[in-house]
Amino acid sequence: MTWWHAVVETRHELQNPTSPEKIRELGERLGLNPDSHVLDIASGKGGPALILAETFGCRLTCVERAPEFVSEARERTASAGLEDRIEIVEADAATYEVDRYDAALCIGATFAYGGLVPTLKRLRPVAPVLAIGEPYWRVWPLPPAPDGEERTDEGEWLPLPETIVRMESTGARVVSLIASSEDDWDRYESLHWLALDEWLAENPDHPQAGEFRARGAAARSRYLAWERAVMGWAIFVCRS
Ligand SMILES: C[S@@+](CC[C@H](N)C(=O)[O-])C[C@H]1O[C@@H](n2cnc3c(N)ncnc32)[C@H](O)[C@@H]1O
Repeated sequence: MTWWHAVVETRHELQNPTSPEKIRELGERLGLNPDSHVLDIASGKGGPALILAETFGCRLTCVERAPEFVSEARERTASAGLEDRIEIVEADAATYEVDRYDAALCIGATFAYGGLVPTLKRLRPVAPVLAIGEPYWRVWPLPPAPDGEERTDEGEWLPLPETIVRMESTGARVVSLIASSEDDWDRYESLHWLALDEWLAENPDHPQAGEFRARGAAARSRYLAWERAVMGWAIFVCRS
């Protein structure tokens, strides 16, 4: 079976609605330097790790569960000549035993620990500063979804102020915020469309082609009709 995310994220260097500039800004706010050792939970294809290691000379231990993304992260690390700075561990974050680090990241994957609050509880003892990437609602209460559109699963997301209250209920202090712009969102979402279009052109007779075409069309329509107006996403910098 071909994994949906491996197909639609083929073109993503960063697998979240953010940018290389914002990841560098994150490194500044975390105070990273060549002596820093950073834990990156659910590190994907290693996009944030490569930028941080290149810019700040820090070391990173990256934990990623998907073998497809682990191999790509290892290839990207080798071609960037950063194997002495970046270690990629293939593991489930939920059961991976962590040590103590100078900073810990969980960018766009709090579900790996069962949500925002469990993620903060798990990572607070691990590092003095944390960076957590998480969605929030920009409009509240949520308007009804347009006719014919499925409403995005609300999950446990909240508006921005309530998201921060929820984070601070764990004892962490949110000291900074790097939010996604509309450009960040459009890049992130529409790279899915492009990657899927290319994959369907190359694999017209693939047994999952019909299913992927329908899934891609529904995701694009939902984004344009609904999510683009109401969804926010930010990296929250916290003191443990
Ligand atoms: C939205 S992507 C973010 C990747 C990366 N942090 C970035 O910003 O480019 C979420 C990642 O979490 C990984 N993931 C999901 N559950 C996980 C788990 N339990 N343990 C480790 N990684 C996990 C996925 O495979 C995917 O690579």
